[in-house]
Amino acid sequence: MRILLLVHAFNSLAQRLYVDLAERGHTLSIEFDVNDGVTAEAVERFRPDLLLAPFLKRAIPEAVWRRLPCLVVHPGPPGDRGPSSLDWAVLEGAAEWGVTVLQANGEFDAGDVWASRAFPMRAAPKASLYRREVTEAAVEAVLEALERLERGESPTPVDPALVRTRPPMRQADRAIDWSRDATATVLRKIRSGDGVPGVRDGGLGLFDAHPESRLKGVPGAWLARWQGAVCRATVDGAVWIGAMKARSPGPHAPTLKLPASMVLAADLPEVQGDHRDLWYEEADGVGYLYFPFTNGAMSAEQCARLLTAYQEACRRDTRVLVLMGGEDFWSNGIHLNVIEAAPSPADESWRTINAIDDVARAVLTTTDKLTVSALSGNAGAGGVFLALAADQVWARGGVVLNPHYKGMGNLYGSEYWTYVLPRRVGEERARAVTEARLPMGMPEARRLALVDAAFGVCVANFRAEVVERARALAADPALPALLADKRARRAADEAAKPLEQYRAEELERMRFNFYGFDPSYHVARYNFVFKVPKSRTPLYLAAHRRTCPHP
Ligand code: COA
Repeated sequence: MRILLLVHAFNSLAQRLYVDLAERGHTLSIEFDVNDGVTAEAVERFRPDLLLAPFLKRAIPEAVWRRLPCLVVHPGPPGDRGPSSLDWAVLEGAAEWGVTVLQANGEFDAGDVWASRAFPMRAAPKASLYRREVTEAAVEAVLEALERLERGESPTPVDPALVRTRPPMRQADRAIDWSRDATATVLRKIRSGDGVPGVRDGGLGLFDAHPESRLKGVPGAWLARWQGAVCRATVDGAVWIGAMKARSPGPHAPTLKLPASMVLAADLPEVQGDHRDLWYEEADGVGYLYFPFTNGAMSAEQCARLLTAYQEACRRDTRVLVLMGGEDFWSNGIHLNVIEAAPSPADESWRTINAIDDVARAVLTTTDKLTVSALSGNAGAGGVFLALAADQVWARGGVVLNPHYKGMGNLYGSEYWTYVLPRRVGEERARAVTEARLPMGMPEARRLALVDAAFGVCVANFRAEVVERARALAADPALPALLADKRARRAADEAAKPLEQYRAEELERMRFNFYGFDPSYHVARYNFVFKVPKSRTPLYLAAHRRTCPHP
């Protein structure tokens, strides 16, 4: 089928559907929902059989939904209506939630149903549920909807008894009363607005909340800081807040989401509690390094901590070291928000890229252990190439990679990508991958040998299998031979071209990106961190605007 994806933004769900539908042989193009005229023009040019709207904030124009089937992915069960579905489900502690694929008509979320899926809720931020449960359910429901459509079936009207229209959630609905709210309530309130729009509290924006069982204090008091997070007392305990937005200096001045300890400059004592963003575990001759940094973004400070933890892990008597990353993201490369907030973003970019390069170098030069990157969640830009520094790359089946930098203002990129990418896929494919600027699903990543194995649907299954595979690798009698091969190959590669030369060449290009006369990277970073809406669809996404399919 020819399918036009109409999206507010090409977000993780839209990307996942894009790669899965392309894999099934559908012809796809993408249009950002900028205005009705542009949407109508996209339909005219692309002549799709179907319009799919996985993430939309406005109604589809009537002229379009009357002309062709338009399927909307709604993150709620059949009958649920409104723009804050998942927010309400998290806030109200729903036990089960769902995804519905419905046919667009004149009323928001009110069309007939093509398919739906239900899933048990997890105590997690809205965005995490969206990236995992909602995404997996949406893919299944969309595929079922397409099958039904192809069979010539019709969608089913919703049982009127199920209809429940919820209003947009406002800040007042999730406002925290620190003198009354227990930890569980505070967590639900913050998680209902995480990642967007967060909970406004005393002028601050609160995100990324985690429970704390031991620290206590006067309700509402700030108690401690640890690894970028700050701890605040509730009536029955405390919560860690991992990310915050500062008070806005003016009514229209945008503010940045940052590690909480950068926003709350109070002199809080450093106390380790239940929440960590970096830790090491060991079992059966395998080391596991976890680094669930918020949004997979890595500041210079986080990279330095990761490097130290990695070096400590290397000193352990293990044979296999697995880089686990976080559950939702493995890594999205350098922390663009922290860079934006620095007095000199150019200097901070330079510091951060060097810090992440140091981590990549430590992985690349580990010769006495087999290293594995285990991607439960997505990775983007430098995060992908950091993963490729390991000997093996394993990923969950639904992971989507964005193995390119160019979208960020033509950033050249570092993380030794000019070494690790061609060594896996060859020069020609390496160029194609980085130029394409498109997301990549696991079947394609496997075909290109960017990833060695993809398995598991949910994170828990994936991680359980990672442990099994890593244990088997550590116990494999062939491991010493594998390590000997690895040492020989590294030595030969080093003799052909030293690692530091790759880095120096990449950084020379990055110096231009950061300090040169072309401000593209700085502009793109500003637009990204402040979420400036796109005014048009980039041509690498809008296939129908590159060439006219019906001359
Ligand atoms: N630095 C800071 N924040 C980042 C980040 C980065 N490198 N990458 C992602 N984020 C944040 C986003 O701002 C968003 O924040 P929110 O919680 O306020 O919504 C969140 O992580 C999720 O990202 P989003 O873009 O919504 O996810 P996605 O799945 O739709 O897209 C990417 C994933 C990787 C394609 C996209 O996030 C991206 O292009 N990131 C930048 C990658 C990059 O250029 N890194 C620098 C070069 S190494």
